[in-house]
Amino acid sequence: MFDLEKFDIKLDTEFIGRQFIYAEEIDSTNSFLLDKGNKLNSNGTVVLAEKQSKGRGRKDRVWYSAKDQNLTFSLLLTNKKYFGKVFSLINFAASLSVGLSIENLFQLKADFKWPNDILINGKKVAGILLESTSQGNKVEKLVIGIGINVNQVLFQGNFNIGPTSLKLELNHQTVEREKLLAEVLNSFEETLLLMEKKPDEIIKDWKAHCSMIGGRIAITEGDLIKTGIFDDLDENGFLLLKIKNKIEKIHFGDVSLR
Ligand code: BTN
Repeated sequence: MFDLEKFDIKLDTEFIGRQFIYAEEIDSTNSFLLDKGNKLNSNGTVVLAEKQSKGRGRKDRVWYSAKDQNLTFSLLLTNKKYFGKVFSLINFAASLSVGLSIENLFQLKADFKWPNDILINGKKVAGILLESTSQGNKVEKLVIGIGINVNQVLFQGNFNIGPTSLKLELNHQTVEREKLLAEVLNSFEETLLLMEKKPDEIIKDWKAHCSMIGGRIAITEGDLIKTGIFDDLDENGFLLLKIKNKIEKIHFGDVSLR
């Protein structure tokens, strides 16, 4: 059982998580925040669910997570200042806050896989799903859904990348979820501030955690596979793929090593 008091003591933010919704079971924390009927509009609102009956991953994949063992939560941003120039960086800011929290609390090395997977020792420990609603061409709400495998040790199913959890990477030491969630939210608020003041730092810090840069990769988008060298990220976070000395900008896709 998630101890709300323990979490609250460690939360050190101005606005992220100050409206906090805890649910035993919900379809998806992202869907919950996106649902207009729930009338949630406060910038920084966080929803945490112990179990999701329809947890979603990128590209309509299912996000499996055992009840009470992990962290599946979503954050709501409604302040218009995030929907301008920095919009494409929020994804990377979210990965950074999860990665840095894992490194600070557990001294594990977090490796990022474009666009928003967090790996430890080549296995996926966390994933991020950004979704938004718009009115006309104006973004109204941005929802950042984060799934972190914390204390789950058995994983069943077919996975794009092999899964792991913090507990597995820490020789079966159980992790305090309250402390980790507070650390991620504290770190996310700081990273958002950095993003506003020095947006270039976000991509720079993200790249410093991406071991695939410089390596030969394959990008899969539907039936299309492109191979080349992962040259760099541009200032908006698009992947620059070098194919026969030409640079191609990649907007979507799944990256794997070749
Ligand atoms: C991915 O790696 O494909 C993204 C996974 C995102 C999963 C999280 S769990 C909390 C939030 N609610 C969802 O339905 N999905 C995200």
